[in-house]
Amino acid sequence: MELNLQTAELALREAAESNPGAWAEHSRYVAEACKNIASHCKDLSSEQAYIFGLLHDIGRYAGVSSERHLIDGYRYCMERGWGKAAQICISHAFMIQDIATSIGEFDVSDEDYLFMKEFVANAVYDDYDRLVQLCDALAMPRGSVFWKRDL
Ligand SMILES: [Fe+2]
Repeated sequence: MELNLQTAELALREAAESNPGAWAEHSRYVAEACKNIASHCKDLSSEQAYIFGLLHDIGRYAGVSSERHLIDGYRYCMERGWGKAAQICISHAFMIQDIATSIGEFDVSDEDYLFMKEFVANAVYDDYDRLVQLCDALAMPRGSVFWKRDL
């Protein structure tokens, strides 16, 4: 399935139905923030940035979890051939490429923990990874008043 605005929106809507929560609105604010910032960067696509923001927490479709949502989102996107979005599902939680910097709980198998550890250490971050990290940090769990003003 091609990743575009429509498929990303549909993915988030379906995921929010399967696990309703503030996370879906949070994802929309992150997407909006990514789009706004990217629109001022000549080397970034604001549509791509919006899509990556929208999908960064898509792993929450699988239910309430801590760091498990990172690998659930990675797999969700990989199954659909959305490689960069898959990377961001994990990378957005690690500004420093060391899994030990996480503040979350690793509610994953030992095998998945090792996979994530290697993945985080070896991933090559680009501006989209960093943009989603930034906007995820700016947006509160329910989005933020700051970005709401721009809607
Ligand atoms: Fe997030």
